[in-house]
Amino acid sequence: MTMFRRIKYKSEEDFEKLKRSAHVVAVTLAEVAKHIQPGVPLLYLDQVGETCIRDHHAIPSFKGYEGYPASLCLSVNDVVVHGIPKQGDVLKDGDIISVDCGALLDGFHGDFCYTFAVGEVKEEVRLLLERTKESLNRAIAVAIAGNTVGDIGYTVESYVGQYNYGVVRELCGHGIGRDMHERPDITNYGRPHTGDRLQPGMCICIEPMITLGSRKIYMENDGWTIRTQDHKPAAHYEHQLIITDKGTEVISTYKLLAEVIGTTELY
Ligand code: MF3
Ligand code: CO
Repeated sequence: MTMFRRIKYKSEEDFEKLKRSAHVVAVTLAEVAKHIQPGVPLLYLDQVGETCIRDHHAIPSFKGYEGYPASLCLSVNDVVVHGIPKQGDVLKDGDIISVDCGALLDGFHGDFCYTFAVGEVKEEVRLLLERTKESLNRAIAVAIAGNTVGDIGYTVESYVGQYNYGVVRELCGHGIGRDMHERPDITNYGRPHTGDRLQPGMCICIEPMITLGSRKIYMENDGWTIRTQDHKPAAHYEHQLIITDKGTEVISTYKLLAEVIGTTELY
């Protein structure tokens, strides 16, 4: 329960450390991206990720977090988030996979995520990815000091709502710092001008989880894997940003992985 916890504001020095942690995640997602293709085992991707994180003298934030067993969350197709790579899991043409990565360096966490298409995906799935990413970019645009978390949630929800996508409500973005999950919660729904106000010194992760069909989800018996009830695909993108008195800066970046997969990314 985060209810009684306060928002932890960061110093300039903390921001610098957060940027270095985010950089490790950026490099790791790019490294994992090189291996995303039909036939690759998920456990291999996890190994690539963990090795890259440790090569940068960082620690995988997820591994051991409340007992989570892997270094990455690898969520394929109808898995929304927190997919655990298991023996025998292999990517196939037409899949989508969200690769969520966290790295702890010098006391601060980096945490962000990208959903990749594996080979050729259906047009409706390609659009789901594109529009989910767009909802995140629009949310970032309103994530400025003085606005509220309700403005962020409203932006995501209203943008994807026009396509009749589902917004997962049970999970949300978060503040981040010395702990991977800090206040405030950043829900992907909300009302404008409501909720916690964004202020200089905050570092937050915005992470829309958007479904092609119904927003209803369930958790598997492993206690982690979150799937859509209708087994339609879900997309998940996450960026990490800092709110400063000079404006908002996105400290996560897809630019490195974009060089690998040949896309152009705003951040
Ligand atoms: N990006 C995810 C989140 O913000 C990562 C948590 S996965 C866990 O919740 F395994 F570490 F729990
Ligand atoms: Co997160």
